[in-house]
Amino acid sequence: MSKQFQYDVLVIGSGAAGLSLALNLPDHLRIAVLSKGDLANGSTFWAQGGVAAVLDDTDTVQSHVEDTLNAGGGLCSEEAVRFTVEHSREAIEWLIEQGVPFTRDEHPPGDDRSFEFHLTREGGHSHRRIIHAADATGAAIFTTLLQRARQRSNITLLEQRVAVDLITERRLGLDGERCLGAYVLDRNSGEVDTFGARFTVLATGGAAKVYLYTSNPDGACGDGIAMAWRAGCRVANLEFNQFHPTCLYHPQAKSFLVTEALRGEGALLRLPNGERFMPRFDPREELAPRDIVARAIDHEMKRLGVDCVYLDITHKPAEFIKSHFPTVYERCLTFGIDITRQPIPVVPAAHYTCGGVMVDARGHTDVPGLYAIGETSFTGLHGANRMASNSLLECFVYGRSAAADIEASLDRVEMPQALPCWDASQVTDSDEDVIIAHNWDELRRFMWDYVGIVRTSKRLQRAEHRVRLLLDEIDEFYSNYKVSRDLIELRNLAQVAELMIRSAMQRKESRGLHYTLDYPAMLPEARDTILSPL
Ligand code: FAD
Ligand code: SIN
Repeated sequence: MSKQFQYDVLVIGSGAAGLSLALNLPDHLRIAVLSKGDLANGSTFWAQGGVAAVLDDTDTVQSHVEDTLNAGGGLCSEEAVRFTVEHSREAIEWLIEQGVPFTRDEHPPGDDRSFEFHLTREGGHSHRRIIHAADATGAAIFTTLLQRARQRSNITLLEQRVAVDLITERRLGLDGERCLGAYVLDRNSGEVDTFGARFTVLATGGAAKVYLYTSNPDGACGDGIAMAWRAGCRVANLEFNQFHPTCLYHPQAKSFLVTEALRGEGALLRLPNGERFMPRFDPREELAPRDIVARAIDHEMKRLGVDCVYLDITHKPAEFIKSHFPTVYERCLTFGIDITRQPIPVVPAAHYTCGGVMVDARGHTDVPGLYAIGETSFTGLHGANRMASNSLLECFVYGRSAAADIEASLDRVEMPQALPCWDASQVTDSDEDVIIAHNWDELRRFMWDYVGIVRTSKRLQRAEHRVRLLLDEIDEFYSNYKVSRDLIELRNLAQVAELMIRSAMQRKESRGLHYTLDYPAMLPEARDTILSPL
């Protein structure tokens, strides 16, 4: 039997964005936080490098703003960048108050800087401004915030719950546009339950799983973007998919990232013959923004016909490497690579979705009552290329501003009346799950081949043709069979892929992460690609 629930706030997603929003809401609200797998399912847990913020006396808001604008290829919203950076210090202070064990600094004698935590550097940053917990920052943040959420009796944490679709007044044929909650598959019972809520928040993370090779965990399927689109929200800049330059290249090392902080601390990129190549591509060398480094690696791999390049930190003392990068050190060692003595084989892989559901500074989407925060949202912060470690920062800043907005709106919003249950009367159990598996593989492969680091109009047309065929097939399957996590994710991935391809086809220039051989120049005017479902 399917069930009905009612909460003041329904938060779909238990990563940095969802947890920080929930923890910043008042104690008297009933809040549900959902995760489609276990609670650590999202990207947050895997974040390595850290969180960018203006913390050191020698750094300034203006400098962080300028670096972000530069990395973003002229397409950032300066307002969003300034808003985020101006709130960076208080976001970090809040994390410290929650108890996140950031790595402390040992200042040399005579150095009287007041800030007590170690700050590292990453690509595009002109200052050391990345606060971190060694190279496992995401795990430290997630564990601390989860522990805090568990201490709050008004927060209910629900695992293995997959939101299928949003419930809106429009969908129910009522007068109005408001979001009233969501239909959610309970993977334990197999039933789709109805969650009514005064406020619904999408904190579902990115969509990098649309590509065959990715640094992201399995759930990064763009569910929030697809749900918001179906509910009537605009999406923006989905052609800008960030490829992280350095993921471990090893047949057994699925999705393992080698943090950019290694380059921040002096690691060098080399060809198989030991030669450095980044100085040929950019004066910032290994610390150029990610789009430039990933494209340079891709270029060199294709030019030489090699499977990977190498990241070399062997010139640093072994103790320094082991204490700053214990996660990378241990993980590489399990594959027989001792990073204190050997260079690390690396390749680029899909890492971050810069576009997403359009929101304002309080996380409002186009649908009243529906918020989007974190990687699923498009705030304008990242422009055509996200600067390293600005993503977690965005989760905290917008998680907190959306929570404040919900608190300020409480008086004006009632609990929705009883909502209709999910209708499963017309569907049966699937007897052909092979279709789902096949379509997953096909989609991710053509996205990698045709909508990857370097694009052409012809490749995009091919991808468009294929994604339309898949969407028709998936639609038919979805109408006839009971929903499962795999089917829900495939439907969303295909929807988001179609939006990415459409966005890429609209951009007749190369800018930031969107590089096409047919339009290699950047146009004088920078414009967002905004798609509207209505
Ligand atoms: P996530 O943490 O991805 O959480 C998504 C949540 O939504 C999960 O709980 C998931 O279960 C849930 N969910 C999704 N769909 C559904 C659904 N349909 N129903 C129910 N629940 C759903 N950024 C930085 O700033 N610094 C770094 O050092 C850094 N390192 C990174 C390293 C790696 C390996 C990766 C993959 C990313 C890294 N990033 C980093 C990016 C950053 O980690 C993410 O952008 C950020 O964690 C996203 O947080 P989020 O809360 O938006 O989503
Ligand atoms: C990394 O540690 O290299 C990832 C940082 C990020 O994605 O911001």
